[in-house]
Amino acid sequence: MIKLQKHIFLIGFMGVGKTSTSRELAKELNIKETDTDAMIVEMEQRSIPEIFETSGEAYFRQKETGILDILAKQEACIVSCGGGMAMREENVAKMKKSGTVVFLQATPETIYSHVKSSTQRPLLNGNMNVPYIRQLMEEREPKYQAAADVCIETDGLTPRQVAERVVEALQ
Ligand code: S3P
Repeated sequence: MIKLQKHIFLIGFMGVGKTSTSRELAKELNIKETDTDAMIVEMEQRSIPEIFETSGEAYFRQKETGILDILAKQEACIVSCGGGMAMREENVAKMKKSGTVVFLQATPETIYSHVKSSTQRPLLNGNMNVPYIRQLMEEREPKYQAAADVCIETDGLTPRQVAERVVEALQ
């Protein structure tokens, strides 16, 4: 098993393939991977839609920031982040302190094809269409770009191929 010096944070829009790329990277590099959404679900013992509905988005965002503090104390690994993680400057500073930030990019059409059947993404409830995804993506893009150490275009690539590009970019 390779010993990473610092975390690799995968950021990017919902449905871009952070979790599947993270799993491929973990296999390829033989390194542990984790997922901030999964950590929150485990800690809270409830789903993301339930957290948003019962406690609100601000509560969820606090939990996300808290996860970065937990990860900062843990051995370096690959971290698949929820799509909103890079929206808070505080989070970006924490990620940059403990890792390298990799931004996975895709077109709104690709994103839509990945998320269209999902019921687990509260921000897209009632907004499951390409124009809305494009609008939210355009709003978020500057923050993803500002957070990124590395940016990978993923359209038309399998998670395996994306993982290979990440490895190449980090070497
Ligand atoms: C969110 C993305 C989701 C999840 C939550 C909010 C966002 O994660 O954290 O629904 O604000 O973009 P994925 O990017 O894994 O879908």
